[in-house]
Amino acid sequence: MVQVRRYLLGDEKAISKLHLKLNDFFEEDYVSPQFIYESAHRPDFIFNVAEHAGEVTGFCGALFYESVGRAQIGPIAVSNEYMRQGIGGKLLRKTLNDLKEAGVFRVIARVKEKNQDTLVFFEKQGFRREALLEKYTKKGENTVQLLTFI
Ligand SMILES: CC(C)(COP(=O)(O)OP(=O)(O)OC[C@H]1O[C@@H](n2cnc3c(N)ncnc32)[C@H](O)[C@@H]1OP(=O)(O)O)[C@@H](O)C(=O)NCCC(=O)NCCS
Repeated sequence: MVQVRRYLLGDEKAISKLHLKLNDFFEEDYVSPQFIYESAHRPDFIFNVAEHAGEVTGFCGALFYESVGRAQIGPIAVSNEYMRQGIGGKLLRKTLNDLKEAGVFRVIARVKEKNQDTLVFFEKQGFRREALLEKYTKKGENTVQLLTFI
């Protein structure tokens, strides 16, 4: 049974490892456990984790701006062996709920254009494509901005 919960101290190593495995999908190739620890402790960052039998199988972060009610989802990932079992959806929905409770109403996500599966994932969760950000990453990859209101 998968449990979706807030980040807990000690999760950062597993999150960093999972991020590294899936790094082609993200902007940064590597994020250190220390960086994850610091992000998770920011007052303007929500960090949720999926756990199965004591193992971290996914995570979803979101940076939000309380004073203006806006947020950006990311990073979000589920480990390969656990993909397409609804875990990503659960993580995203909990994060959106948490954002709503924090007073956020407008949420974006930025996904590389080549990452079609994840674009479809966000659309299934109620996001729509808002803009194409040309050559957005350092490597010159186009990125799609997705939007939802909560
Ligand atoms: C995006 C991601 C978090 C979704 O997690 P998940 O647990 O697989 O998602 P869910 O099971 O809740 O939803 C599955 C839906 O997402 C889409 N999807 C996700 N992975 C897919 C894949 N490998 N192939 C095709 N569709 C996929 C499909 O629409 C799928 O629906 P279906 O199974 O009914 O066809 C996960 O695929 C992932 O970690 N991707 C790599 C990291 C990434 O791209 N992060 C976003 C960078 S901003």
